[in-house]
Amino acid sequence: MANAPFELKGKTVFVAGHRGMVGSALLRRLAREGADLLTISRSEVDLRNQAAVDAWFAAKRPQAVFLAAAKVGGIVANNTLRAEFLYDNLAISTNVIQASHANGCEKLMFFGSSCIYPRLASQPLREDSMLTGPLEPTNEPYAIAKIAGIKMAEAYRSQYGSDFISVMPTNLYGPGDNYHPEYSHVVAGLIRRFHEAKVSGAGSVAMWGTGAPHREFLYVDDLADASIHLMKTYSSPELVNIGTGEDITIAELALMVAAAVGFRGEISFDTSRPDGTPRKLLDVSRLARLGWRAQTSLEEGIQLTYRAYLADNKWTAPERTACPDKWRKQADPRIRGRVSPRCPVPRRNG
Ligand SMILES: NC(=O)c1ccc[n+]([C@@H]2O[C@H](COP(=O)([O-])OP(=O)(O)OC[C@H]3O[C@@H](n4cnc5c(N)ncnc54)[C@H](OP(=O)(O)O)[C@@H]3O)[C@@H](O)[C@H]2O)c1
Repeated sequence: MANAPFELKGKTVFVAGHRGMVGSALLRRLAREGADLLTISRSEVDLRNQAAVDAWFAAKRPQAVFLAAAKVGGIVANNTLRAEFLYDNLAISTNVIQASHANGCEKLMFFGSSCIYPRLASQPLREDSMLTGPLEPTNEPYAIAKIAGIKMAEAYRSQYGSDFISVMPTNLYGPGDNYHPEYSHVVAGLIRRFHEAKVSGAGSVAMWGTGAPHREFLYVDDLADASIHLMKTYSSPELVNIGTGEDITIAELALMVAAAVGFRGEISFDTSRPDGTPRKLLDVSRLARLGWRAQTSLEEGIQLTYRAYLADNKWTAPERTACPDKWRKQADPRIRGRVSPRCPVPRRNG
């Protein structure tokens, strides 16, 4: 694997999807790099529109591109909006990668997803397991579009020598996540449901599935840091997984989120609902060899995310202004040994 230092300082850098969770984290992190940042809203340029994308690239000619625009969602969205997940993601990747090539872009990072790996690939998931078996059916359209994007980046590299690289983030969470009641990812969905149950005084929350699947979660600001590290130091057709290398069960995650939110009722599991892939843990040994490790613990990241959720959602006192003493005194017996009984309530001004 070649390492090619790439300077971001002074370069025009386009973050596609800058209003999304990943794109906004990239902007926060890129602010430290001294780059000239370019963004464009969907109302000005729909990235599915080839003519609009071509015209914008011809006018702006970004020197570096982070391709973090995509149609993204949880298991329900992926499985319901199958045509949109395939069409939108194919169109966005095709248009942006081709326009980057045609307009002299020096470096591009394509964001794939751990969904590209076969449903039953051996764990932890190695980068070379892509295309070695059938995909998880519930998100196959999304995965196929992502694999096409990876192959495009690879093909432009081999045919034209373009310095286009692809990274595979694990499940992400953090500020800017999507809290849609049906279409959210698991951490955001749990935060919303436990928060609403706490506020309404509901005694229980029902979870989809058995709670048994194992998942890995990465705080989105860590993803942004890893991405900038790789953009500056990595140049190879080989994919790079970005994750923590650690997973927990969905049931354990639910307890952790409930603790952070301060929901103290019952959590039940609706086992008639689908679980999805039984386990999804990335092998992050390549990333470690490239000199990067995640910094934010899951517990800390969930607390930061809940703070951001409250700030975003105009939820007011009392739960935002008071840190109940009982929280400090009582550890929930269901989570003892996993989560410290820290106050989940964000403080004013901090
Ligand atoms: N979230 C995860 O857990 C996760 C995990 C692995 C990989 N990834 C990858 O990371 C990347 C970013 O994900 P994310 O979680 O940040 O998603 P997100 O929050 O939904 O953001 C997606 C962004 O793409 C933009 N976008 C979508 N369709 C567009 C279109 N037709 N034209 C212009 N802009 C469009 C959205 O614009 P609007 O603001 O206008 O909607 C939004 O800014 C994606 O490639 C995703 O596959 C995400």
